[in-house]
Amino acid sequence: MTTATPTETQLIEPHGGRLIDRWATNPVGLADSALALPRITLTERQLSDAYLIAQGAFSPLEGFLASEDYRSVRDEMRLASGSAWSIPVTLAVDEATASLLREGEDAALVAQDGGIAGTIAVAELFTYDKQAEAERVFRTQEEAHPGVAGLYGQGPVLVGGRITMLPGTPPLDPDALPFYETPAQTRAALAARGWRSIVGFQTRNPVHRAHEYIQKAAMEITDGLLLHPLVGATKSDDIPADVRMRCYQALLEHYYPQDRVHLSVYPAFMRYAGPREAIFHALVRKNYGCSHFIVGRDHAGVGSYYGTYDAQHIFREFEPQELGITPLYFENSFFCNACGAMASAKTCPHGEESRVSLSGTQVRDMLSRRETPPPEFTRPEVARVLMDAYAED
Ligand code: ADX
Repeated sequence: MTTATPTETQLIEPHGGRLIDRWATNPVGLADSALALPRITLTERQLSDAYLIAQGAFSPLEGFLASEDYRSVRDEMRLASGSAWSIPVTLAVDEATASLLREGEDAALVAQDGGIAGTIAVAELFTYDKQAEAERVFRTQEEAHPGVAGLYGQGPVLVGGRITMLPGTPPLDPDALPFYETPAQTRAALAARGWRSIVGFQTRNPVHRAHEYIQKAAMEITDGLLLHPLVGATKSDDIPADVRMRCYQALLEHYYPQDRVHLSVYPAFMRYAGPREAIFHALVRKNYGCSHFIVGRDHAGVGSYYGTYDAQHIFREFEPQELGITPLYFENSFFCNACGAMASAKTCPHGEESRVSLSGTQVRDMLSRRETPPPEFTRPEVARVLMDAYAED
């Protein structure tokens, strides 16, 4: 357990009351004894989950879910203890691997390169209903949904149990590495700035003017912004993390007061679970020290699987104290030529014809045609980074 320093105590408590720490206390001994154990080779995503659990980003989880928690999370959006939790964080293996494992015994967690990453105390091996999980977590059973495809593609047995990890870093783009922090490090950095109320912003995209608009609206009522882009695996047509990092830096340099923003990265993969992932993203950002969390339009959505504001509506299924972190909801925002400003339907009386709104696909198409996105949509400094990145292709 990490003991909070006096300055950190001014921040919101982690989910469950304490930051989980599942790093090995004796790494050499653990690595040594792991050599004799049955091996589970982790995918990059599973490895990312394991490191995030170990460093407390997924507090109160101490390992991969066993069946009671799994069912409770899938069906009730709560752990068996009653604690709010919306995404089953599981370790799926194939039958051959499962046959080597025994409940009550340890197994080695092995990275793709064959190196020992940690161990799991196997509490339970159990089968699960993928369609039921898809329907409840992703609200669809269609394989065209990238999260559902991932679920259907994984092994048929889940391994539940507490993990212990050797020191290491979740897989992440080298350009994001300078911005990598554990939740304890982010908490210390936020506390050192003297902030109490901090708004977290999740993104998997370059920062456009709509993002900037809602961030700045939230910054008006909080002490500071944690700009926390997700830099683990995303869909292949999302803009890569290295390009996004350059966009964030360009935007912050030119348009944000340096003493009101903290940029660090969230090295998780995108699940595209829309509403369920919005809850998950909020709880995780609470572990990083955020008191508030931005949920805009179609948060963590993909295609047209979710209604524009479903990711906001799902928060009604929890009492505020169950989550602890306060969601800040924003309407679809755009630049309105008639207003001459960023706005939303809440503040702008003009019609569609006045509004500059571009989808991610439209922007990517423009970039492939070497067309600069308009300044009403993207700041010129950010557009330049994007244009340069596309010119390299
Ligand atoms: S996400 O998958 O990480 O949610 P994205 O990076 O596009 O995708 O969005 C980051 C956050 O900004 C989310 O909370 C999303 O709802 C919000 N958002 C994105 N675009 C808009 C917009 N035009 N208007 C309002 N909110 C938006």
